[in-house]
Amino acid sequence: MTNKTLLVTGGCGFIGSNFIRHILTKRQDWFVINLDALTYAGNIENLTDLDVEHKSRYKFVHADIRSLDSLQHIFDRNRIDTVVHFAAESHVDRSIHNPATFIETNVIGTYNLLEVSRRYWENLNRFETFRFVHVSTDEVYGSLGLQGYFTETTAYDPSSPYSASKAGSDHLVNAWYRTYGLPTLITNCSNNYGPYQFPEKLIPLMILSILEEKDLPVYGDGKNIRDWLYVMDHCEALLTALEKGTPGHTYNVGGNEEWKNIDIVYRICDKMDKLLERSGDKSSRRLIRFVTDRPGHDRRYAIDASKISNELGWRPKYTFEIALDETIDWYMNNMRWVDKVRTGSYRNWIEKNYTRRESLK
Ligand code: NAD
Ligand code: TYD
Repeated sequence: MTNKTLLVTGGCGFIGSNFIRHILTKRQDWFVINLDALTYAGNIENLTDLDVEHKSRYKFVHADIRSLDSLQHIFDRNRIDTVVHFAAESHVDRSIHNPATFIETNVIGTYNLLEVSRRYWENLNRFETFRFVHVSTDEVYGSLGLQGYFTETTAYDPSSPYSASKAGSDHLVNAWYRTYGLPTLITNCSNNYGPYQFPEKLIPLMILSILEEKDLPVYGDGKNIRDWLYVMDHCEALLTALEKGTPGHTYNVGGNEEWKNIDIVYRICDKMDKLLERSGDKSSRRLIRFVTDRPGHDRRYAIDASKISNELGWRPKYTFEIALDETIDWYMNNMRWVDKVRTGSYRNWIEKNYTRRESLK
């Protein structure tokens, strides 16, 4: 095992915070610098429970990838072996209503990070290794019919402002590899679920709405299909890609778990009814409302993950049924976190530590 320093962008978000915890646990001589702008989706408290030893190998830097100067400042002052780039605007519905920040963060922010990484890497001596791991989505491939799977050679065909902005960022990453030789890797994964996911995404939104007996909005006919990947399986896939992956390559990552949205909602309702002892006319399925479909709503995503499995030896360990139950239990047992996220009170940290002008940079 070699001592490494990872610069993780977006480490206060859902996947990034799980990834940092995973790395600090699995690689006991690695250091992590977490660079995050703390947008509505970034919660510094996702990592406050790190133990003392983990904290000694962890540093938080409040910065925005939209600012090239801020990034340059960080690269000038730190040794960095690997960049793992999560920071993004990540929610499709928000991208439909406010696409501008998706272009600014996902496209321009990724350009800034690539450019600063390139300058840094060009000044390293030839014995030092450097990796830039870009965390992307299967949504760049567009929508599938009932048959077939996305492979690493499927043509890009994004539908939403979110997926178009991620597609743009993937193209920039590949251009920095082909043009400058920056040792980049891209992972395109399916829908993640698990602890610390912001409750605007399907699974946590349904769990919390059931608890509060609020309507459960199901878009269109509810038969859209997603492949679901437990966040811990994703974290292990990213660690595998950064240690064993070949620069210039893309790896698709999926859970091999295709589910219709409505079947997921039924499952969450039924599991929570058992936990909350609801039945008959109190059962949670009564809260389901089929609502107007999302514009440009992709019908089906499905991942062929045989490349990362055959070449790097990664495969998912969790089944959807078991990990979904664990996820429901996590939300039910972490109501303090849920309340803070819902009321926005976790954002008090920014107010306490920064002036308003600084925090909005
Ligand atoms: P998230 O929305 O939970 O977290 C995003 C994080 O990025 C937050 O901490 C936020 O504060 C930070 N951030 C946003 N804009 C920033 C900026 N300008 N500068 C610095 N930090 C900024 O997202 P997530 O679900 O954890 O997703 C992480 C990455 O994985 C994203 O790149 C996303 O596109 C990709 N991805 C997510 C999924 C999924 O199902 N969640 C699936 C495939 C790919
Ligand atoms: P989401 O969690 O937003 O992820 P993505 O759009 O990146 O796939 O949505 C997952 C699926 O659930 C998607 O097909 C849209 C659907 N959906 C609903 O039906 N109702 C909702 O309230 C949400 C948030 C999503």
